[in-house]
Amino acid sequence: MTEAPATNVTLDEIVALCKRRGFVFPASEIYGGIASTYDYGHYGVLLKRNVKDEWWRAMLDGPDRIVALDSAIIQNPRVWEASGHLAGFSDPLVDCRTCKLRFRADKLEDSACGRKPSKHPGETEECDLTEPRQFHLMFKTHMGPVEDDAAVVYLRPETAQGIFVNFKNVLQFARVKPPFGIAQVGKSFRNEIVTGNFIFRTREFEQMEMEFFVPPAEAEKWYERWIERRREWYEELGIRPDYLRARPHEADELSHYSSATSDVEYRFPIGWQELEGIANRGDFDLTQHANHSGEKLEYFDQATGEAGEAYVPHVIEPAAGVDRALLAFLVDAYDTDEVEGRRRTVLRLHPRLAPVKVAVLPLVSREGMPEKARAVYDSLRQRVGAEYDEGGSIGRRYRRQDEIGTPWGVTVDGQTLADDTVTLRDRDSLEQVRVPIVGLADELAARLELPWRSPKLA
Ligand code: GAP
Repeated sequence: MTEAPATNVTLDEIVALCKRRGFVFPASEIYGGIASTYDYGHYGVLLKRNVKDEWWRAMLDGPDRIVALDSAIIQNPRVWEASGHLAGFSDPLVDCRTCKLRFRADKLEDSACGRKPSKHPGETEECDLTEPRQFHLMFKTHMGPVEDDAAVVYLRPETAQGIFVNFKNVLQFARVKPPFGIAQVGKSFRNEIVTGNFIFRTREFEQMEMEFFVPPAEAEKWYERWIERRREWYEELGIRPDYLRARPHEADELSHYSSATSDVEYRFPIGWQELEGIANRGDFDLTQHANHSGEKLEYFDQATGEAGEAYVPHVIEPAAGVDRALLAFLVDAYDTDEVEGRRRTVLRLHPRLAPVKVAVLPLVSREGMPEKARAVYDSLRQRVGAEYDEGGSIGRRYRRQDEIGTPWGVTVDGQTLADDTVTLRDRDSLEQVRVPIVGLADELAARLELPWRSPKLA
């Protein structure tokens, strides 16, 4: 599946930028870190928040009736019995007796053996792989003071089940009828055998999932519609269309609950990889939870005749990863060019995703400019995410903002003090125009709502 890298950036360059600018760094670093676990710093938090906000916006303000939910990470363990996770959520793993590493048996061609030059496990005669064993992916813990089997609980491996078990509550309180959706964003945990590629695959990650409940006869139509909508969402947020594709799963790739799944994939530096899965889950989950809980999980349609008709809605599920989407946005935005003879790294992020929208910079930190710049900053920060920076040369400050993807820069100079105008600089075109301070916040807020296209497409 993976092809030769086709992006102009390596994952190592993204990791370095994330560390240098405080987007993402290894967790527990002062203790030597903890395998494939990361913390998000200020700009990483802002970028992540913007990704999630855009997702919520697409869900809640779109054409369909979708309501929000925030369910608990730790649920009654019977939830995982009903969902099939307790019995079936495992990956086959093999150990290599020679290099002492552990691999996913179904991903050997994507794995590298520990020896140099690196080969795929099993590729050479020296490799000595064990028979595959099933490895359970759910994190187990205990609830309460007694660590016995009765107290075993699990960290959720997906947010979806919290939605299904609340189906009845939502029907009752949100007064919805199919087709409608329930959306949720939150942390999920999987004790993955193989992690890596930075934040691409980790054991603790965030998901953005929506379960869309439809009359059974409409499932196919909604499945196709959500594949298209979700691909469009990434495109509208600036991902270049050639780096996106929807790939239907082969029959042997389908999960136990799914009759059809398509992945929205991005062409990462490591090749084409899943960003998000859109699955037709049929009535599997509601039926399972109804059977295990004894509750009726149906929709009773009073409009269909006198007696009414109860049916179990079918479910179309777009399930995305926040961290993975964030990585794709970073990779797609990363660029380098030369400005006045100096090389710069620039994140050409969609302005709505950019952690900071506008940087306010006094040309020099004297002659009343810092005070004036602070006043401009105060007038902007309530409307658009702004940052004030007066330290270092103006070129250096711009390079810093370019590296975190700030789309606009405002310079306060001597003329500002005389006529209340500032220079507005564009991150991508580098165009600088003189504009009045009055109306600037409105202008930038309006620009944030405009359609946007990656300048890398020009
Ligand atoms: N409810 C269906 C479900 O969870 P999934 O394909 O296993 O489906 C959905 O997960 C999305 O969650 C994936 O497309 C990916 O973006 C993200 N994801 C899954 N496992 C991940 C991991 N170990 N690290 C980071 N993101 C992950």
